[in-house]
Amino acid sequence: MNFPADFIRFLKAASRIAVLTGAGVSQESGLRTFRDAQTGLWAQYKPEDLASPEAFARDPKLVWDWYAWRREAMKGVRPNPGHYALVELEKKIPQFTLITQNVDGLHRFAGSQNVLELHGNIQKVRCADCGTFTEEWGDDSETVPTCEKCGGLLRPDVVWFGEALPRAELEAAVNASRACQVYFSIGTSGLVQPAASLAHAARNNGSVVVEINAEPTPLTPKVDFAFHGKSGEILPDLLKAVWGD
Ligand code: OAD
Ligand code: ZN
Repeated sequence: MNFPADFIRFLKAASRIAVLTGAGVSQESGLRTFRDAQTGLWAQYKPEDLASPEAFARDPKLVWDWYAWRREAMKGVRPNPGHYALVELEKKIPQFTLITQNVDGLHRFAGSQNVLELHGNIQKVRCADCGTFTEEWGDDSETVPTCEKCGGLLRPDVVWFGEALPRAELEAAVNASRACQVYFSIGTSGLVQPAASLAHAARNNGSVVVEINAEPTPLTPKVDFAFHGKSGEILPDLLKAVWGD
């Protein structure tokens, strides 16, 4: 991919960058994007009907099993060149914040350090009642595992529809978006708030906004640079064009 000369010059001089990623960044690792049809057993459900407090209250075992299935599906999944390019980018930029909507943990797995998981992490499990985190649980148990401390049901540590985002992560994401010189929106349809509004916070503070996505999104008309294609190809190309590696 060719990048405009002014874009390359600007990026080379940047010291503060914020990046928001979505499911598109993990697509080349073999993970379905959020709005892809679910496969197999889960095809008849909509993710929104499984990832909500109401769904968990209605049928905790069904919801627990859906996340156990997703954790199982994650076992062979590895970061792709897009994740690794973001690890390299972080090493080159003094103030670099990686904000992700993804719950797959692949950015940390790839080696990214300053990661804000706005929607939580599917590999973490906490008590739905007292919030205690637990490391050990049985994914194949007949019933939903319960908390050793209070007996409450365990649940994945992810943000469900209708739930608030973790306050500390959201605050840090807003601050990073407001302070950055360059804001990247990568692999996200930009449909879900409040993550989608981070690009506007960056724009309002005069940041250069860049979109890297397989297809145009509602954000596309408002960005300074839009590169449409696979993030696993564009990001390594970008590192090479700007820093030669
Ligand atoms: P979406 O599935 O809404 O959007 C993924 C975007 O990635 C789409 O615009 C695709 O075109 C693009 N895409 C697909 N493959 C790509 C690739 N190889 N390279 C670059 N782009 C690619 O997923 P998100 O935007 O992440 O929240 O969804 C945001 C949130 O919506 C999720 O975190 C989830 C959902 O509600 C919660 O569960 C709270
Ligand atoms: Zn508990």
